[in-house]
Amino acid sequence: MTIGIGLLGLGTVGAGVAEILLNPQGRHPLVGQLALKRVAVRDLSRPRPVELPAEILCTDPQQVVNDPAVDIVVEVMGGLEPARSLILAAIAAGKPVVTANKAVIARYGEEIAAAAAERGVYVLIEAAVGGGIPIIEPLKQSLGGNRIQRVSGIINGTTNYILSRMADEGAAYGDVLADAQRLGYAEADPAADVEGGDAADKIAILSGLAYGGSIERSAIPTEGINRLDARDVNYAAQLGYVVKLVATAQCLGTDTDGTVQLDVRVNPTLLPKDHPLAGVHGVNNAILVEGDPVGRVMFYGPGAGAGPTASAVVADILNIAGIREATGQGGGLDPLLAASRWRSCRLVDPGQTQHRNYLRLQTGDQAGVIGRIGSCFGDEGVSIRSIVQFETSGACADAEIVVITHEVQEANFRRALAAITALPDVKAVAACLRTL
Ligand SMILES: NC(=O)c1ccc[n+]([C@@H]2O[C@H](COP(=O)([O-])OP(=O)(O)OC[C@H]3O[C@@H](n4cnc5c(N)ncnc54)[C@H](OP(=O)(O)O)[C@@H]3O)[C@@H](O)[C@H]2O)c1
Repeated sequence: MTIGIGLLGLGTVGAGVAEILLNPQGRHPLVGQLALKRVAVRDLSRPRPVELPAEILCTDPQQVVNDPAVDIVVEVMGGLEPARSLILAAIAAGKPVVTANKAVIARYGEEIAAAAAERGVYVLIEAAVGGGIPIIEPLKQSLGGNRIQRVSGIINGTTNYILSRMADEGAAYGDVLADAQRLGYAEADPAADVEGGDAADKIAILSGLAYGGSIERSAIPTEGINRLDARDVNYAAQLGYVVKLVATAQCLGTDTDGTVQLDVRVNPTLLPKDHPLAGVHGVNNAILVEGDPVGRVMFYGPGAGAGPTASAVVADILNIAGIREATGQGGGLDPLLAASRWRSCRLVDPGQTQHRNYLRLQTGDQAGVIGRIGSCFGDEGVSIRSIVQFETSGACADAEIVVITHEVQEANFRRALAAITALPDVKAVAACLRTL
């Protein structure tokens, strides 16, 4: 039985998928049953890394969805529209969809999942988070027997590349970003990566799968690395930490009606050097899942790129093809593969969350300043893990004081910070970062 594949997009990921489908030798025998039937691109004259018969290429993506020879629609065009409408059109036509589009799934996942459930078709999204790392299906299936306590990860390769080089070379953020753009690791417009939006899309998706309910994507507190100072990366290293852009979804409890209370966020975060995520370098990604009873499980690998991402897309295609092979077109949806929502979740008030914090203060180099800062923390019940004064270079007489707190309620920390800012010898709060 041949299964017809329609590709929406033949860019980085689409060409990687075509490459696998056109070369099935040595792969699972089901790959040999997948046939590319129709492919939509924007520009037919653009050179492509894969050779396809001209008659299967088109510029109208709706033709791919409508083509009766296409059994599975693979959306790898990116962007919100027309991608969302095309996914919904495929579902309405009764065709399963595989997509790598985290932006669409993070914003319209609920609408798409409801339409898919109603029509009885699968929408699989393994490539939307972590590129080649299998994390979506493990969360849905292999870890399904656990109560998930926390999912945390380095899920943006561009920022991890920049942070790795800042740490290794002591280089400034702007210089490394420019280099990353030159090398093709960062987009010409890097905002979605460096401001944390891409990681927020991905943690919204992981949170929905781990906890069985959606949260509002736009409400996720998100801080990128674009204002990070190399000085903090350097001080963190001297104190035994590395700075990473960490996306986290953590269960804090449940309301009386069963709604799950979640702390979901994206922040530049200090990780102790022996933390499992601290050793993830360059463009690699890693996701740490903590669950009961499994404990800690870490998924690590290439978070982007044509080959790794295509590997995840083809895995999804094979899952759907395998079910067709086993059951024909009929039968209900496998509830583990279909990833239904089964309870409601809500984000907690950030002031009620508990964290450790790193704080860098610029102060006058006067006797007693450390004591006065300590008193402000003490008044709010914030206990200090370490407080260090760093020499500042140059002629200025300022001192830099770095504080790392123990775990503290965010609201108490903020009140202490307001009091510290008001001290006459504190000139500026130069940095404030999360710490694990
Ligand atoms: N790149 C990665 O490493 C990676 C990793 C994980 C997930 N993803 C996700 O995968 C998706 C695709 O990413 P990509 O890097 O492959 O993007 P890309 O290289 O920009 O490719 C997009 C493809 O879609 C086609 N396209 C775009 N709009 C179209 C339209 N309106 N009509 C017809 N064709 C259209 C483009 O045609 P032309 O070629 O003619 O311009 C191009 O072939 C995105 O959602 C992205 O977030 C990418």
